Amino acid sequence: MNSISYFLGGIFLTLWAADVRAQTSKAPFNPYHYTITKNGQFNKAAVASGHPLASEAGVYVMRQGGNAFDAAIATQLVLAVVYPGAGNLGGGGFLIARKTDGKLVGLDYREAAPAAAHRNMYLNTAGNAQTQLSQNGRMAAGIPGTVAGLFATAQHARLPVARLIQPAIDLAEQGFVITAKEAAALNSHKNDFIQYNSVPPVFVKATAWKAGDTLVQKELAATLRRIQQQGAPGFYEGETAALLVAEMQKGNGIITLEDLRHYTVKERTPLEFDYKGHHVIGFPPPSSGGIILWQVMKMIEQYPLAQYGFQSAQAVQLMIEAERRAFADRAAHMGDPDFYKVPVQALTSSTYLQQRMSSFTPGKATRSSAITESRFTESEETTHISIYDAEGNMVSVTTTLNGSYGSKTVVAGAGFLLNNEMDDFSIKPGVPNKYGAVGGEANAIQPGKRMLSSMCPVLVTRHNKPYIIAGTPGGTTIPTSVFQTLVNMIDFRMSAADAVNKPKFHHQWLPDEVYVEKSFSPIVKQQLEKMGYTVTERAAIGRTEVICTNGKQITAAADSRGDDSIAGF
Ligand code: GLY
Repeated sequence: MNSISYFLGGIFLTLWAADVRAQTSKAPFNPYHYTITKNGQFNKAAVASGHPLASEAGVYVMRQGGNAFDAAIATQLVLAVVYPGAGNLGGGGFLIARKTDGKLVGLDYREAAPAAAHRNMYLNTAGNAQTQLSQNGRMAAGIPGTVAGLFATAQHARLPVARLIQPAIDLAEQGFVITAKEAAALNSHKNDFIQYNSVPPVFVKATAWKAGDTLVQKELAATLRRIQQQGAPGFYEGETAALLVAEMQKGNGIITLEDLRHYTVKERTPLEFDYKGHHVIGFPPPSSGGIILWQVMKMIEQYPLAQYGFQSAQAVQLMIEAERRAFADRAAHMGDPDFYKVPVQALTSSTYLQQRMSSFTPGKATRSSAITESRFTESEETTHISIYDAEGNMVSVTTTLNGSYGSKTVVAGAGFLLNNEMDDFSIKPGVPNKYGAVGGEANAIQPGKRMLSSMCPVLVTRHNKPYIIAGTPGGTTIPTSVFQTLVNMIDFRMSAADAVNKPKFHHQWLPDEVYVEKSFSPIVKQQLEKMGYTVTERAAIGRTEVICTNGKQITAAADSRGDDSIAGF
């Protein structure tokens, strides 16, 4: 009998699948009977990711002699199979790592605008923004970066990618049982999958998906096998590339064979700053995540947050005002540094940040300069992986299709979803994207340019030794979730699990509203309203994965908001 087991809040739940299959996967984990584990302690190595099978795959390759980079490759590939809403071959990501010798690695495999892209490509003849085109279907896709990113990561790994890819091939070929959350997500996107594909993909089923059903992806397995046999050209050239371009030609897609052949990974120098005796290492532009994290942490550093108390109105207000100011800078100044000079030094200088907080009035809301109508209308499907290995390598990867299931278009014959990352550009100055974020010149569309991200994979060291590896999905809420998780651990001295699971709040300058999770204190909500804030409840903020080490023991925590799960040994 096949099953999924959940170990939640001390209760072991098992869902039995109707479909019985032989377990033939070469990896030791069982795709028809697996367990979601939210936190644990290990002696040697650990992985925290968005799905239990992906975390198990990372641990499996480390047990086979691989390091944290091998695990990052295997885990991402398995996520592309078992978590199609965000794991991906057709998206992009950022990897930040600190190697055991202290050297830092920053890999930018963010999607890029195709050569035919132009500033006004999403405007109609009246000059109005057509967000349905930047958010859904073929035209929403940027040139995928993930597969190139995996091969760039392999330079730091030990095992051949051909071996690291096998667990993903097995899971795609033989199938795996889906969780209740995945079933609900597939059901809620059924009409999108029908609308944005000429041939209904495997995600469309006559009857509703339910927990324990088996998802088999033969075409995706064949694509993975081409990558296994040919390396990155197995994706960017030959049959896979031809299938992707044929998909573009079925509608209004603009990615060409040339675009695919010319895609490159960029090495970026990580951003580094100190916070209360900790050294924080974040991702630079084209992500805004690292700069925002630097700004908000330095803006609050001089205040006695621990004295104010965890999520007291005083502490929350201070953090909201820091977030408001950082997001205003994001809109005006951040974009792809290869196309726009991002004033990183100016934005992170202590004089500037002090001056920025000079308008902060305790007990009173500052007003953002304008208010828009934008709201969060969809989930923010990105996914994060934190990994620590027995040698002391720290790897933090955030990867995305942008929205849930990206553009919802699956490349026919190749079985993978395309991203809708073009929507992360500012498609018209002042027009909010799907996360309500606005922008201008810095993030305008140009051929070859990478769209501004909020992804914020982060590493923290203490006394020059590994301490925290963290990151999260969540669109514009990403830097604020990482910020609050780090503050929970550093200022409020919480365990990794508590830091991840406590209620979160978010302000992004525009719209001028504070978003809070449903579990946020109603008393503090009222106190904030009295100070002049508009406070709106919203769905979950973030799905944060944290690994923390004290040099002897490793603690791993996966967010309870999703199917996230840890593994280790
Ligand atoms: N697509 C979400 C981000 O990169 O911020």
